[in-house]
Formats: sequence, structure tokens, C-alpha cells
Amino acid sequence: MTVRQLAIQVFRHDPRDPGSRPRVVTHGLEETPGMTLFIALTRIREEQAPDLNFDFVCRAGVCGSCAMLINGRPGLACRTLTANLPATITLFPLPGFELIADLSVNTGKWMRGMTERLQAWLHLDAEPDPDAIEAAMDPDLAESIYELDRCIECGCCVAACGTARMRPDFVGAVGFNKIARFRLDPRDHRDDADFYQLIGDDTGIFGCMSLLGCEDVCPKSLSLQTQLAHLRRVMARRGLATGD
Ligand code: SF4
Ligand code: SF4
Ligand code: FES
Repeated sequence: MTVRQLAIQVFRHDPRDPGSRPRVVTHGLEETPGMTLFIALTRIREEQAPDLNFDFVCRAGVCGSCAMLINGRPGLACRTLTANLPATITLFPLPGFELIADLSVNTGKWMRGMTERLQAWLHLDAEPDPDAIEAAMDPDLAESIYELDRCIECGCCVAACGTARMRPDFVGAVGFNKIARFRLDPRDHRDDADFYQLIGDDTGIFGCMSLLGCEDVCPKSLSLQTQLAHLRRVMARRGLATGD
């Protein structure tokens, strides 16, 4: 079996260092069976570039921290096998997020801003009683909510979004997915008039161009297309009803 020699071209820049200039550094690496980009980057850091910055926590596609541009496409580095890529691989940080250094970006800060802006938490009528018996929920509805809750806030959908590139205040597919999740939840007392206040403009659902780059790159295969289309219909109806 021929062993492939990989050329991994990695973006390097540390905005905290006044002497740093953006550049691309190429690292040669022998491919091993089952090698993921996490393994490749760890080897590069151990053997060639000890100061290389990149983020990983779970290495299993569940924490969302390892998203980066892989040959120009947003994806999770820990779930990407080098065998599925050409021998020359380019790695850049996700666009649309504050660069920490090299391949590490601050998705957490962006996600927190979006969560606060959309008030993406349960709005209950009363304080929850920890002693109360858990209320039953229809299993199909619980399943639908769980499906939307599978979002890992990796930021791939935002990095792939043309509107987000043009409008830094756009809430992105991850934000719409959250609104869809809380609209479904019967414990949340907000109605569509409340949700319209949050996403009924060009920074929200009416800024979406429906080209669905978001769905194409979502590593959790969330049905973003369905959620976006439904929200747009509901919010347009709401806007017509109120004359907004
Ligand atoms: S919707 Fe998909 S791509 Fe977007 S943050 Fe969630 S998991 Fe990542
Ligand atoms: S469909 Fe909307 S949210 Fe998705 S990438 Fe396009 S503009 Fe962004
Ligand atoms: S390291 Fe957690 S999703 Fe990749």
C-alpha cells in the first residue's frame, strides 16, 4: 500500500502579537490509517509547530469547537478523515468570528451574543418548582424539540452564510433553529408576535437569501431548510397582519 504524503497548508496569525503577519505555512506529513484532521494537527503541533493554535474538546463531533475551513468548506476537523481529502489540504479559521489565533476562533462570544439577542431560553409563566412532579410531554413533540436541540453551535452554518458575510448582525441559521425550537416548546409562553420582534427584519428571517449554504454544511444534518421556510412563512403572515 502506498503511503500518501500530505501537504497541510495552515493559516497562521496571532492578532495578540503586534509582530504577527497573516501567512500560510505548509507542513509535510505522512498519512496514517484512519487519520483525522485532529490527529494531523496534533502531530504537526507535537513534531513541527508547538505554538500552533486550534480548538478541540470532544474529538467526537459533539462539542462543536473544532470547526474550521477545510479546503474552503466549513466542517468539523475531528470528524474529517484525511483519506477523504486530496493530498494537499488547506486549513483556515472559520470566517465571521473573532480570530483568537491561527485556526482558533471565538464562536462562544458570537453564540452568546446571538443567544442573548434572541432570548434563546425558556420563558416560563412561573418560577419552576423543583419539588413538582415532572410534567409529561407528548413524545412526538419531545422528539421534535430534541431534534432541533441537536445543534452543537459549531458555527459552520454562519461561516457558510452569504448574508452573515455581509451583515455581521444577522442571526444566522443557528439562531433561526433556536427560535424554531422555542416556538415548538409549549412551556415557553412567547407567541409569534414576540418572535416577530426578535427576527422579523433584515437581520432576521427577511435577510435570509434561502440559498441554503447553511444546510449544506451543517455537520448534524439539521433540517435548516424546513425551519427557515416555515419561519419565513409564519413571520411574513405576522408582518402582514400587523402591517409592519
Ligand atoms: S445549525 Fe448545524 S451548522 Fe449551525 S451551529 Fe448548529 S450544528 Fe453547527
Ligand atoms: S439560507 Fe439563509 S441562513 Fe442559510 S446560508 Fe443562506 S442566507 Fe444564510
Ligand atoms: S472536537 Fe468536539 S466537535 Fe470536534
